[in-house]
Amino acid sequence: MKNFINTITQGDCLDLIKQVPDNSINSIITDPPYFLGVTHNGQKGEYSDLLIMKPFFQALFYEFKRILKSDGCVYLCCDFRTYPFLYPIFDEYITMRNLLVWDKKSGPGNFYSFVHEFVIFGMDKPKDMHGLNIFTLKSFSSGAKATNGEKLHPTQKPIELFEKFILDSTKEGDLVCDPFAGSGTLAIAAIKTKRNYICFELQDKYVKIATERIELFKGNMNPKIDNFKITPNLFN
Ligand SMILES: C[S@@+](CC[C@H](N)C(=O)[O-])C[C@H]1O[C@@H](n2cnc3c(N)ncnc32)[C@H](O)[C@@H]1O
Repeated sequence: MKNFINTITQGDCLDLIKQVPDNSINSIITDPPYFLGVTHNGQKGEYSDLLIMKPFFQALFYEFKRILKSDGCVYLCCDFRTYPFLYPIFDEYITMRNLLVWDKKSGPGNFYSFVHEFVIFGMDKPKDMHGLNIFTLKSFSSGAKATNGEKLHPTQKPIELFEKFILDSTKEGDLVCDPFAGSGTLAIAAIKTKRNYICFELQDKYVKIATERIELFKGNMNPKIDNFKITPNLFN
């Protein structure tokens, strides 16, 4: 098996995830594509078009269940259109425990502004989880948008968001996974919090962008974090 640990691996996550050992991941924290931009001859796609993605997500959530430790957690970003599609498929494999709402305090939009984002939260074996299902992030609380440096991906999530989910659900040295890595936000949050990561990304350009972003981040880290040693033999 290729060693996926602490790298962004290029490829289709549905193929790659099959090589991740059973019961090895503490949390899956991810933001899959929403598949809402598909058009027919210039016409907007319809909600029912999402059904074509059902087999993909069934196969993916089956793998999520297989690779997660028994008390592992899943955080799955979605929106008001993808939530009703994803929920029944997700809950078939992993018990959905809550729908988290990130209150961004400000946002664009004409039909009431978009100021929140949804995150499906699932886990099979319950463990103590504290906190509210509506939360804010420090750098968004004043209405100011967190940049986390340059915007490198059109749907880039703030590092703080994934950092919160890591801190809520895992401990130092644990292993987290993002099968849809984009610009590598989960990897950065994992390094910051001294967790190990497995990230997959289909597009070469984002693998390159994420890898460079990680190197830049590591270069700017303070020595205390720098001394963090990757946990050996995570799969043993
Ligand atoms: C919504 S974006 C994730 C953005 C990320 N959270 C960030 O902060 O940059 C989804 C990403 O999944 C990637 N993707 C789409 N299908 C994929 C697949 N089958 N396997 C792996 N990556 C995929 C896309 O190229 C895209 O970069």
